Amino acid sequence: MSLKARQQNILKLQAAKAAVDLIRPKLSSDSIVGVGTGSTANCFIDALAEIKNHFDAAVASSQSSAERLSQLGIKVLELNAVNEVLVYVDGADEVDPNRALIKGGGGALTREKIVAASAQEFICIVDESKLVDMLGKFPLPVEVIPMARGLVARDLTAMGGQPILRSGFSTDNGNLILDVREFLIPDPAAAETAINNLVGCVCNGIFAAQAADQVIVARPDGVTLL
Ligand code: A5P
Repeated sequence: MSLKARQQNILKLQAAKAAVDLIRPKLSSDSIVGVGTGSTANCFIDALAEIKNHFDAAVASSQSSAERLSQLGIKVLELNAVNEVLVYVDGADEVDPNRALIKGGGGALTREKIVAASAQEFICIVDESKLVDMLGKFPLPVEVIPMARGLVARDLTAMGGQPILRSGFSTDNGNLILDVREFLIPDPAAAETAINNLVGCVCNGIFAAQAADQVIVARPDGVTLL
């Protein structure tokens, strides 16, 4: 692993620990914690295991996170089995100054958006490399129904993007991902709605309607809130 990757991992760990410190006072024995997907979310899962007796259970946004939670002794429930998710904690691929996000680099965007929408509060945890002035340098993941991949790809091209099928990948929902390159997003809310309206699109990775309530940003000189 390169020095840069090692330093980034340390920052991810610091953001995850800061999230645990932030949510710990809000937890009670019946609390449900929503848990995201990805390398930063994995750091959060590991830190959360240290306070597993402070809450009831977790709801996960992917099979892989559910497995990691279970392995660490944290009870995992289906979203439909719980009434209320206290807080959802997850990473992001890009964060803009209004806390709108691009997510889905790991392909779990639809379940992430569902759990985020179910939670009272969405806390995003990132290292400083994820901060951008405008969303869109990171290829935008769009989950599509398999038979509609050509149709949605043509629509996304007409909207100005360059969709590429994520090779050899299928989502936990059995769908495909188109990663849309060269697609700058000056108005995240409008782009999120426009792409969601494409027939055959299941969900896209812009989180603007469902922006983060707080973003914990880890930098070499400390952790700040956005
Ligand atoms: C998973 O589908 C994503 O939304 C992740 O939250 C995002 O890709 C960030 O992942 P890392 O924490 O691994 O950078």
